[in-house]
Amino acid sequence: MIEAPTIGVEGIYQASGHLSGFSDPLTSCKECKEVYRADHLIKHIIEVPDALSNEQIYKCIQENEIGCPECGGELSQVYEFNLMFKTMIGPGNKMTGYLRPETAQGMFINFPRLLRYFRDSLPFAAVQIGKSFRNEISPRQGVIRLREFTQAEAEIFIDPRDKSHPRFAEVADIKMRFYSQAAQERGEAEEMTFAKAVERGIVAHQALAYYVARTYQFLLAVGVAPDKLRFRQHQSDEMAHYAADCWDAEVFLDRLGWIEIVGVADRTDFDLKAHTSVSKVNLSVFVHYDQPVKRQKLVVKPDFKALGPRFKAKAKAVGEALKALSPEELKGSKANEMISLTVEGETIEIEPTLVSFESVEEEIRGEEVVPHVIEPSFGIDRIIYTVLDHSFYQDAVDGEPRAVLRFKSAVAPIEVAVLPLMDRKELSDTAKAILQELRTRGMRVDYDTSGSIGRRYRRNDEIGTPFAVTVDYDTLEQGTVTIRDRDSMQQVKVPRWQIADKLTALLCGLLKFQDAGDLVASGKKE
Ligand code: GLY
Repeated sequence: MIEAPTIGVEGIYQASGHLSGFSDPLTSCKECKEVYRADHLIKHIIEVPDALSNEQIYKCIQENEIGCPECGGELSQVYEFNLMFKTMIGPGNKMTGYLRPETAQGMFINFPRLLRYFRDSLPFAAVQIGKSFRNEISPRQGVIRLREFTQAEAEIFIDPRDKSHPRFAEVADIKMRFYSQAAQERGEAEEMTFAKAVERGIVAHQALAYYVARTYQFLLAVGVAPDKLRFRQHQSDEMAHYAADCWDAEVFLDRLGWIEIVGVADRTDFDLKAHTSVSKVNLSVFVHYDQPVKRQKLVVKPDFKALGPRFKAKAKAVGEALKALSPEELKGSKANEMISLTVEGETIEIEPTLVSFESVEEEIRGEEVVPHVIEPSFGIDRIIYTVLDHSFYQDAVDGEPRAVLRFKSAVAPIEVAVLPLMDRKELSDTAKAILQELRTRGMRVDYDTSGSIGRRYRRNDEIGTPFAVTVDYDTLEQGTVTIRDRDSMQQVKVPRWQIADKLTALLCGLLKFQDAGDLVASGKKE
């Protein structure tokens, strides 16, 4: 995990292509001058407007007689608007900088340091969580479109000669619905295993498929609803300027339809090569072969016996300059053509008879490669919003509405609420001892005595607390406590001394609630 600066000098974004290619298509009203995202205005007509050129978007606006949403006025030609925030760095405003539009670039420009940290060998990865900034034209959709938003990105640097993944077997049999380019033409996603998706070339290679699969598992684990989740492959003309293939995790939100929450892209060697060409810093890796490879190599052999008397003290330098020439080119030149050399600033002409060629065996231990990059890029604000949206439901208890956030334990802010039945010392002493014991186990626990027990259950349902522990007079008389399950509202009694172990097992999914103890309340009434 690294933390790079949020402000970058212009050269970074010139190299990355963001200066020239990171823009949105806009159109303005000729009457009231309001500005709009042109692609958003045709979203109800074209499912993936990102794939259209500005001319095509404008044609679609005209053909469908779309006017200004505010005043109905005529809309202008579609034009590009760069999304980066520009700033000036240092006193005197001498240096232009930009707020980062993605955290990724911080990992590319730190590539030499990362490579050294990983002892010069592939594969390796860096991750970063932090704010990115985009000058969105219409950010008014809650946390779905923000001008500063939180990204969590990983850049996984791999050997481009082999895009298999050593742990692919762990995800090969997972089934998922793939909404590939071809499936989008048919209008229906196709369910298959990741092994099949790679075998059929639907996902280009194991390295990309592995991170799509891990993203899929992560999203399900934090509570994204499986029936409202799909992975859609970018159309080739929709792809970001740096990507060769990209799969978006998209979720369905009632208010907004399908929106992207994660992108998993194969950025190839685009970024490292682009930074090398601007910074002139070599960003390649020497990859060692398992076994050295032997091969015959042609070398230039200067005739030192003849060069010595002719060039005296300079003879060695002349010989070295001859050796540095390409033997293939020298051999290919005409028999009577003089060899021209520059030695110590002087131009020297040499007859071709003063060199011969020799084939020698050389051992090659490896080669220089520019790594390819697989990038899972998570939009954290959107994921949090989705988990809230997909977790929320309402039912009724005793004729009263009940609001519930069905959070997975892993993301619930409070995992266990400890509730003495009444705020009396004999109950609260035991409840506080249980609270302390659960905290010692590392659980996120809350203690609540305010209001009726039903009211306290409701409050915890609303914030998504998976379990409540109730301490009552049975605790004092029989040594038992009650655990209540948020979703079923069932209650079981367990021995007080087992409570921490039972909750640990329940929270990590090793124990089913109905097996946790003796059922004492069916959950229909509270
Ligand atoms: N790094 C991918 C993105 O910002 O969209």
